[in-house]
Amino acid sequence: MDLHIHGDTASPQEREAVDGLLGPAPSAWMGGLRNLNEEGRIALVGGQESRTQRHRLIEAFHAVQGRIGWVSEGALNYICQRLSVPPAEAYGVATFYHLFSLSPRPSTVVHVCDDIACRIKGGENLCQDLEKTLGPSGSGSWQRSPCLGLCERAPAALTLQAATTPRGITLAPTSGEEITQGLKQNAWPVDEPFQNLSRSIPPSGSRELRLLKRIGKIDPESIEAYILSGGYARLKQALALGSEGVIREVLDSKLMGRGGAAFPTGRKWEAVAKAPAKPHYLVCNADESEPGTFKDRLLMEGDPFAVLEGMTIAGLATGCEKGFLYLRGEYPLAGKRLALALDLARFAGFLGENILESGLNFDIEIRRGAGAYICGEETALFNSIEGKRGEPRNKPPFPVQEGVFGKPTVINNVETLVNIPLILKEGGKAYAQLGTESSTGPKLFCLSGHVARPGVYETTFGPTLRQMIEIAGGVPEGRKIQAILLGGAAGVFVGPDQLDIPLTFEGTRAANATLGSGVIIIFDDRVDMTDILTRIAEFFRAESCGQCVPCRVGTVRQEELFHRLRSQQPLVSREEELNLLKEIGQVMRDASICGLGQTASSAVESALKNLKGLFAERGQP
Ligand code: SF4
Ligand code: FES
Repeated sequence: MDLHIHGDTASPQEREAVDGLLGPAPSAWMGGLRNLNEEGRIALVGGQESRTQRHRLIEAFHAVQGRIGWVSEGALNYICQRLSVPPAEAYGVATFYHLFSLSPRPSTVVHVCDDIACRIKGGENLCQDLEKTLGPSGSGSWQRSPCLGLCERAPAALTLQAATTPRGITLAPTSGEEITQGLKQNAWPVDEPFQNLSRSIPPSGSRELRLLKRIGKIDPESIEAYILSGGYARLKQALALGSEGVIREVLDSKLMGRGGAAFPTGRKWEAVAKAPAKPHYLVCNADESEPGTFKDRLLMEGDPFAVLEGMTIAGLATGCEKGFLYLRGEYPLAGKRLALALDLARFAGFLGENILESGLNFDIEIRRGAGAYICGEETALFNSIEGKRGEPRNKPPFPVQEGVFGKPTVINNVETLVNIPLILKEGGKAYAQLGTESSTGPKLFCLSGHVARPGVYETTFGPTLRQMIEIAGGVPEGRKIQAILLGGAAGVFVGPDQLDIPLTFEGTRAANATLGSGVIIIFDDRVDMTDILTRIAEFFRAESCGQCVPCRVGTVRQEELFHRLRSQQPLVSREEELNLLKEIGQVMRDASICGLGQTASSAVESALKNLKGLFAERGQP
């Protein structure tokens, strides 16, 4: 195949970054030096080999972006040669992901969150200050960002620094002074001690911690500490139980997926274990991007071995030999700790070939996302692992039939997998006694916004929304609650008259709300909710993959409509504008391919229904 490569060639540093990932180029065909004696033979073999490496395209972009700070035309051409991908296709992939830049930019860029939980804690003012001191977002060393998964420590920023060993530095809470000084002096904080993670788990009375018990307490970089705290005992138990025994326990536990879709985990596992097509794959969805969600980050940063142990048990039970952990690109500390944990687990015989001399093989590879919310959708995530644009696929076929690389795939969220060792420890039936009949086990909730003690709270299912807010210290400064967002941007707003909703799958469903991934953002009576709704509309417009018309056009129209209402310039009457908003929402729900389009209007429509006086009090014509 002629790749039609024209234009620039890669610099030595760019080649080095790519070769560091893929190894040296074996032939001129693949961008290496010419050897006329060997070339014909190697080119043929090398071309075939390189095409089998096509799925490493996004990793190759990460390698260059991490080393240089952006991906030049020459670097893109070299990557294309190495992987036998036409440049037009590679360009389409690179431009899909917000963390990759195809134009020159400084080696250090600060991503500043202006999403909903941060903007009510000074994030928007911070961005406006930076616009004055550093210039517009995206024009140099800083840019606005959607939620960075640090909402409990708002306002938040993430510094990405390109270098031979790239760094990602979390700044939360941060200030304009810290960012401008950091950029001026190129001086940034080092990783904090793991004990500091405890500040994200505020005390919540006498509640027993099962999922969070190690976080901030034991060193997440020590496998010995993990084993001493009971770690890997459940993997041994799983090997003794065998596949059917483990799946039976998970079915008995009635565990529902914790990523938002709430599908019964045991049924998913059973379907993949029985699927005749081989190989089977396990995918851990660690692309936690729903605004207001930060629990999976905490689990991965504070208890990475528990994530790996859950994955290993899941992989072995469902007949997989390979697992992928698809990690949000904005979680550098989690990535570092998971990579170290993988090495240590392999060395100790908990991963790799012949695990604990069982004759079974299973290994895990980390794949990093690159700033695309839609990759949290399972089929978009599969495409991203395959090195493609993260565009969702039509379903059916479902992942248990045809998932990543077209093979039967179990995909579970981080929190779901961390529940697996616990289920084996307690026993499936005993686990099912925790919580309610239809919502079993412990659950993590992410509280942020106007609450006295923001953080991750663990509870068995059942408390009401009012009780959760009280556990978190209530609303500061004696202010009143104006609104609560349940489930994130794809969730639902409820008003202060709905605080008795039970936080269970069935309780929220009965109230026409959703638990989603456990997001609870509280807005006090000072917040301009029209600003929040407009930000949510902007978010969906920016994150729509653009593949299907109802969502691509609907999210744009929805955003435009909010800007018109906010600026008091409706095209027609306010009522007609609001009716149009409902119609757009209905079309997106009915005709979009995936959950993003289907839920892009839920939060804004619920706000207009459940919150009183929105837009009206601003003097509409
Ligand atoms: S609904 Fe939106 S995000 Fe989903 S496939 Fe269609 S355009 Fe893409
Ligand atoms: S980190 Fe800013 S909204 Fe989540």
